[in-house]
Amino acid sequence: MILLTGGAGYIGSHTAAELMERGRDVIIADDFSNSSPRVIDRLERICGRRPAVFEADVSDHSAMEELFRREKIEAVIHFAGYKAVGESVQKPVQYYKNNLGCTLNLLELMAEHGVKSIIFSSSATVYGPEAIPPYTEDMRTGPCANPYGWSKLMSEEIIRGAATARPEMSAMLLRYFNPIGAHPSGLIGEDPSGIPNNLMPYITKVAVGKLERLNVFGDDYPTPDGTGVRDYIHVCDLAAGHAAALDWCETHTGADMVNLGTGRGYTVLEVVRAFEKASGIPIPYVIAPRRDGDIPVLLADTKKAERVLGWTAKHGIEDMCADSWRWQKCNPEGYATEY
Ligand code: UD1
Repeated sequence: MILLTGGAGYIGSHTAAELMERGRDVIIADDFSNSSPRVIDRLERICGRRPAVFEADVSDHSAMEELFRREKIEAVIHFAGYKAVGESVQKPVQYYKNNLGCTLNLLELMAEHGVKSIIFSSSATVYGPEAIPPYTEDMRTGPCANPYGWSKLMSEEIIRGAATARPEMSAMLLRYFNPIGAHPSGLIGEDPSGIPNNLMPYITKVAVGKLERLNVFGDDYPTPDGTGVRDYIHVCDLAAGHAAALDWCETHTGADMVNLGTGRGYTVLEVVRAFEKASGIPIPYVIAPRRDGDIPVLLADTKKAERVLGWTAKHGIEDMCADSWRWQKCNPEGYATEY
């Protein structure tokens, strides 16, 4: 049984689908504080069987203890955590308490119950300001721009330390670039509450008529059209990266970190144009001031993922846009939609 903490979330749910489609048994531990229980029904429709679910706060030791006692956990994929960058600046203590609390709790329970493998949701945000894109995994990390980023980097260090102390352990730290897209079925996707912070969910909400226009944050960056460049990766490719990481954990010990990106960058305006082409819907936009904390270019070097995990991204920007649009079009109210 593979434990997916935060498995009802955007990346967790796509990874659950990928693993179940590969015949693995998964159990999702989630408190549904930022996800919908309807994800479980949708996963059943995609995979023809229902994932096991354990409703709990992952930082709650006694609740999670029951799960570890009851199930034979082979590996943990740890997605659970707070993820709003701006909010982390307002509520740093809550972010550290929750995100580090979940990681610490899991490592403690894994040691107590002899669970050897952990795969961790880290982020490209751990690379420091001196790192020059494309980022290779050996580049300097920190100082992070916000508590969210620090909580990822600190969790990486904590996991690394735990793996050193328990030589039988395997730990794979996955540094995600910018995940977008959705499962091609249109049944699961990203469903942020309130006004989206991130580019693609904002664009799809404009396309579906829920928001009037996109604000493009800055057009004076040193990039081909002046707007920010990011390494967007299809969430299904990201899910396949987790399956590859699980294979790695089953055949290796020690801790290692790998970027999950495509190595290809797109500007904000290139994404807008690709989305318009895929959906046939014009996206009105205005140029707005730069957003605090944004950097001009974020790009993965993907060689290590290929070498260590035997994994590369398969989907291009067309699929990412088409699948994001299918999800939003079929589910204008997200998981509240009867679909
Ligand atoms: C953000 C987080 C990052 C986190 C990731 C999770 C910040 C500073 N960074 O990455 O730490 O791991 O989300 O997915 O918040 N843009 C617009 N208009 C919008 C929204 C975005 O022009 O309404 C632009 C941004 O300026 C950027 C690009 O689109 O150039 C991508 O932005 P976004 O999707 O928010 O991701 P990141 O900021 O790269």
